[in-house]
Amino acid sequence: MKSVPVALGLAVAAWICGTQSAQWRVQSALNVIWRTLGRDKRLSRVYNHTFADYGTYNFTSRAWPGIDRRSLASLTADEFRERYVEGRTPVILTDISPLREWSLERLRKECGRMEVSFARRYSAGLRAIPEWARRIFLDPRTIKAYNKSTAEIIDAMHAEKTLQEYLSSLESDKEAILTAKDNINLYGGNIVDYLFPVMLSAQHIDKHDCRPLMQEGNRVLSRLIEFAAEAREDRPTYASMHPVLFVAPAGSRAIPLHQHGPFNDNLLWMLHGTKKVVVVSPSSTRSLYERPEFGGSEYADRVFSADVLQPDEGSQPDVRHARALEGYVSAGELIYLPVNVPHAIETTDDNTSVMLAWQMPVPGIARMFFKKSCSYLEELQDYPPWAKKCAALEEIMNREDAR
Ligand SMILES: *[C@@H]1O[C@H](CO)[C@@H](O)[C@H](O)[C@H]1NC(C)=O
Ligand SMILES: *[C@@H]1O[C@H](CO)[C@@H](O)[C@H](O)[C@H]1NC(C)=O
Ligand SMILES: *[C@@H]1O[C@H](CO)[C@@H](O)[C@H](O)[C@H]1NC(C)=O
Ligand SMILES: *[C@@H]1O[C@H](CO)[C@@H](O)[C@H](O)[C@H]1NC(C)=O
Repeated sequence: MKSVPVALGLAVAAWICGTQSAQWRVQSALNVIWRTLGRDKRLSRVYNHTFADYGTYNFTSRAWPGIDRRSLASLTADEFRERYVEGRTPVILTDISPLREWSLERLRKECGRMEVSFARRYSAGLRAIPEWARRIFLDPRTIKAYNKSTAEIIDAMHAEKTLQEYLSSLESDKEAILTAKDNINLYGGNIVDYLFPVMLSAQHIDKHDCRPLMQEGNRVLSRLIEFAAEAREDRPTYASMHPVLFVAPAGSRAIPLHQHGPFNDNLLWMLHGTKKVVVVSPSSTRSLYERPEFGGSEYADRVFSADVLQPDEGSQPDVRHARALEGYVSAGELIYLPVNVPHAIETTDDNTSVMLAWQMPVPGIARMFFKKSCSYLEELQDYPPWAKKCAALEEIMNREDAR
């Protein structure tokens, strides 16, 4: 990609400029260049879809409009399809309790021996570049918050350990995060959340390591499929879909505001604690201060530095134009994230969060919930390879239904 050297050059310039406001000026210039040259087609896409439920931020009440909270019991399959799948609107389902309470004690007891890995493309990338260049991609606040050297942080980001070992570090991570939020504006409008804290995300669960957790997940997915099947004449069968595990210290952010590279829709099910979720309309990406130099770091996501969890009109004025929704998802609740919506997530300051997530390739949830076609997703026109993939999935679905 030709844009990479440009982004790198500007990142270096931002680094040289030093102060945060100078970085923002460089960042704005970068955005203008990005828009003008139209290197990324998605940036210039004009949507036919209105994303009608999304709204602008209210700087007085400091809130986006709320995400619908509905019990699954109160929904019909048709309503789910029309309002949430086709409307591309997130929804929090409030009656999705686990069989047992997943306290950290239980997690330690049932799954403590599970081997977990923190290696990501992002940390691998940092290790691959020369040491002097790593600073460009590291926020100095990370080093302050951790009180560790760059090398130590990068090692921690790439570690392998047991879940039990990880769980025992959560209290001290929480303290470090809360202190850093108060003292150095830890998450203030930047990309530090890629690096701090090192946390368990998208961890594959081996069923031998944590059978009870897998059973909980399978039970919930079956329940949703039952719900979906209500609207189908031909009862579909589905290949099993395994969730991934996220465990995050209180007060932490997962990763910066991002839009998944692959077209998938997501179910995030909370087992412990609470997360604040902000979901942005895909038509608002121009107002989100994209950081193209971070794109491709994780799963080819697009990464944005707009702080939509705590918008600041002064430092990021474009956020006024963005339209989004926000909500809190707590243990026993599940949020549906439609395809291609940028999202930012923060665990609230009180409790560790434990979450299972299903990431389903398009037509993903739609496939489960009533739709056998990707035609409702106009972005696919921009990406012929994805349209092809979608066609392949449609074929599989039809085959499965025919069985
Ligand atoms: C923003 O919030 C304030 C305080 O809650 C409220 O009075 C005002 O009407 C809201 N503005 C809009 C446009 O909804
Ligand atoms: C940082 O760590 C060093 C020891 O490695 C310690 O002496 C120092 O007090 C720590 N600083 C803070 C702010 O915790
Ligand atoms: C946090 O955890 C405590 C104790 O486990 C619990 O009483 C409280 O309801 C939790 N708060 C949230 C927001 O989950
Ligand atoms: C979007 O609208 C334009 C103009 O009305 C139309 O030509 C185009 O086919 C529409 N695209 C989709 C995906 O509906």
